[in-house]
Amino acid sequence: MLIFNNKADLRAHLSPLAQQGKTIGFVPTMGALHKGHLSLIERSVQNNAATVVSIFVNPTQFNNPHDLEKYPRTPEADIEKIKTVSDDIIVFLPSVEEMYEGNTKSQTFSFDGLEHQMEGAYRPGHFDGVGTIVKKFFEYVHPTRAYFGEKDFQQLQIVKKLVSKNNIPVEIIGCPISREENGLAMSSRNQRLTENEKEQAAFIYKKLLEAKDNFTSQSIEAIKQQITTDFNNQEGFELEYFEIAAEDDLIPAKTKDNRKYRAFVAVMLSNVRLIDNISLN
Ligand code: PAJ
Repeated sequence: MLIFNNKADLRAHLSPLAQQGKTIGFVPTMGALHKGHLSLIERSVQNNAATVVSIFVNPTQFNNPHDLEKYPRTPEADIEKIKTVSDDIIVFLPSVEEMYEGNTKSQTFSFDGLEHQMEGAYRPGHFDGVGTIVKKFFEYVHPTRAYFGEKDFQQLQIVKKLVSKNNIPVEIIGCPISREENGLAMSSRNQRLTENEKEQAAFIYKKLLEAKDNFTSQSIEAIKQQITTDFNNQEGFELEYFEIAAEDDLIPAKTKDNRKYRAFVAVMLSNVRLIDNISLN
């Protein structure tokens, strides 16, 4: 296991590998790693000569200072978890200063409208922060492939757009959502839930499955109305949005065509913001 805190050392290590034609897989994370993250790392290790995992809580993508402050930081435990996948992984653990050099600000991006939907509407500036840091990472790592979870499906689509609009030579690989046994999507934020709340949170996946079951037989409007009402009647939950959208434009859909659709949800459960989504067809 190699751990780098600065980008010059990381580049010095990676450049010769790239020159030898070795493939480099990259898994960016904000740490507090769980099995969902590890599934991305496993996939990268299987398919690349070298794998780089970054652990960096990126301040510019947090629109809520309380959320940034409360975000779990567990680098030692994270490194131990990465070792369970393989000892042959390069960990990049930079400081805010190393990544932002005294200018902790986002670049402004257009992602052709993807950034205005759902998470973009509820978390102003969030995707500019994600775009800024992911672009920096790609410049330092020069990965052959980079792995992103469908857990953050809008982020995955935005990163694909970032890469195509900026002609960044990296293949973006989307990976399936890892879930707890009760269906709750794994998330670093789940650490802030009690055991009881984690059980309550199984309701989210239950409702997503219901949307999937009803997708062919019911209208989008009917599904949205029913599930929104169910969340509003469910104690402890405060629904931010429940949307159905085509994967390519993420615009809330009113009618169906032959594209791929997903249902997306963001909900507060006792001050913890949870997001999830499911493929519908
Ligand atoms: P983070 O939330 O730590 O997630 C890192 C990667 O793990 C993301 O691609 C995310 O979609 C994926 N992931 C999280 N939970 C998952 C799950 N249950 N199943 C499968 N994949 C999962 O996403 C970020 O960090 C940041 O925005 C980042 C891309 C690192 C930029 O700062």
